[in-house]
Amino acid sequence: MKKRIVLFASGNGTNAQNIINYFQNSNQAEVVCVLSNNKNAKVLQRSLALNVLAFSFTKTEMLSPQGLLSVLKQHNPDLIVLAGFLLKFPEIIIDAYPNKVINIHPALLPKYGGKGMYGQHVHKAVVANKETQSGITIHYVNNQYDQGGVIFQKKTRILPQDTPQDVANKVQLLEHQWLPKVIEDILTKAALR
Ligand code: GAR
Repeated sequence: MKKRIVLFASGNGTNAQNIINYFQNSNQAEVVCVLSNNKNAKVLQRSLALNVLAFSFTKTEMLSPQGLLSVLKQHNPDLIVLAGFLLKFPEIIIDAYPNKVINIHPALLPKYGGKGMYGQHVHKAVVANKETQSGITIHYVNNQYDQGGVIFQKKTRILPQDTPQDVANKVQLLEHQWLPKVIEDILTKAALR
């Protein structure tokens, strides 16, 4: 039986697309559906174009046991991956799936985490603080923003002349390179790194 992955994303969805592609010919795991809090998110079109079920939900549905949680139960996920999901993830879902919800954050946590720290906000802060490195963190999701146990981190060098967009590009390369592999490792319980 293939392991079942459910993805959550809020916007563009390059990570979601990359994960779907990675598992498309896998006999270990598959992406069974993609869910978004934003009905106009590009991730929905990207997923449907790859023949993966994709739909949006409202904030009320997100917080109600009869809403998103019951939809999730129908899809019976082995792993829930927040791949660019920008809202606080609901506690009722975290509690229903202990140690089965992971997130990717575009910085080296615990630096540049917490409320309001997402996407370009993170990369702007990294440049403003003249950091010499940034990177990615893949971590379990708990009830505090960006504070669940770290599963995996990878660094990239930041040069003095790098703009926030340069940093974003470097971080995105790492995300696309590593997130599918880490998901696979978790699902097959192989040693990480
Ligand atoms: C990614 O860089 C991801 O790390 C970040 O949103 C981006 C989504 O890109 N997530 C967060 O900032 C969560 N706090 P994508 O839509 O192209 O996959």
